[in-house]
Amino acid sequence: MISYAELGLVNTVELFKKAVKGGYALPGYNFNNLEQLQAIIQACVQTKSPVILQVSAGARKYANQHLLRYMAKGAVEYARELGCDIPIVLHLDHGDSFEICKDCIESGFSSVMIDGSHFPFDENVALTKKVCEFAHSRKDYVSVEGELGVLAGVEDDVSSEHSHYTQPEEVEDFVKKTGVDSLAISIGTSHGRAKFKPEQCTRDANGLLVPPPLRFDILEEIEKRIPGFPIVLHCSSSVPVEYVQMIEKYGGKLTGSVGIPEDQLRRAAKSAVCKINIDSDGRLAMTAIIRKVLAETPDEFDPRKILGPARDELKKIYAHKNVTVLGSAQRA
Ligand code: G3H
Ligand code: 13P
Ligand code: ZN
Repeated sequence: MISYAELGLVNTVELFKKAVKGGYALPGYNFNNLEQLQAIIQACVQTKSPVILQVSAGARKYANQHLLRYMAKGAVEYARELGCDIPIVLHLDHGDSFEICKDCIESGFSSVMIDGSHFPFDENVALTKKVCEFAHSRKDYVSVEGELGVLAGVEDDVSSEHSHYTQPEEVEDFVKKTGVDSLAISIGTSHGRAKFKPEQCTRDANGLLVPPPLRFDILEEIEKRIPGFPIVLHCSSSVPVEYVQMIEKYGGKLTGSVGIPEDQLRRAAKSAVCKINIDSDGRLAMTAIIRKVLAETPDEFDPRKILGPARDELKKIYAHKNVTVLGSAQRA
């Protein structure tokens, strides 16, 4: 049994209270490897932002759970060495069963998400409640994120082709019955780099896809029903056109890419949304630079010379998000 407090990690409870009060959102950044973790920590130390390090079931399969956990412990020490003891949460992203949540809790995670959103309401409640009871009874309280409403898109273990908006009339009951610490909602976002079908979008003067706006009316209705309760927004990559174009310039094919405009995310961060999940933008930034380096220096074969510049770009985009989009900079 490993205690997250001994690893130097914290849960989300106090961080969310401050974020709701301060009108900003914490970053939920996913990582699967060393370079992603380095970039996240460098960006969050530079901007003095607290951070939620997210591990998906796919990341656990890819990188190994023990390695990821000790990387998170290393991240705490790395941040200190870089000069800022930022609060760091280690969070399971989209846990799909009680067993995976339990396993993560027992192995040092300070926060878990149980995603029962694809179940009927009562089953979602029962599963989420079971995870909360286990997580909250630990010597060191582990925070739990639940989900109501379905997010579409590509994930390894929890996936759905169609999204369904969260029904505001269900949130109060769900929160009360389950005891969750935060709630992920669906207001029109979906995972991945193509968040809307072209037929759902309009086009700007340059022919680029312009997505429909997020359903802020649903968010506002939810806020009214559970005032001050921490809300989580998944699927919040903006899919920067520069990275899509760079990837395509160097041989990639990413037709139909469209994300959530930054001004809408900023608006969400100023509301009860206190955690914003971003993964795809990091994937795009790294892939764009890797393709560029490989195309421009065909004789390069040292992975550090290929992944290093990709890591530096990732740091840049995450620092930008903390400062400009989430408002989490200077809140550590
Ligand atoms: O929500 C999904 C995250 O982007 C994680 O994706 O399951 O491919 O690691 P993954
Ligand atoms: P994106 O695919 O928009 O980056 O969403 C990531 C996410 O929601 C992780 O849980
Ligand atoms: Zn997600």
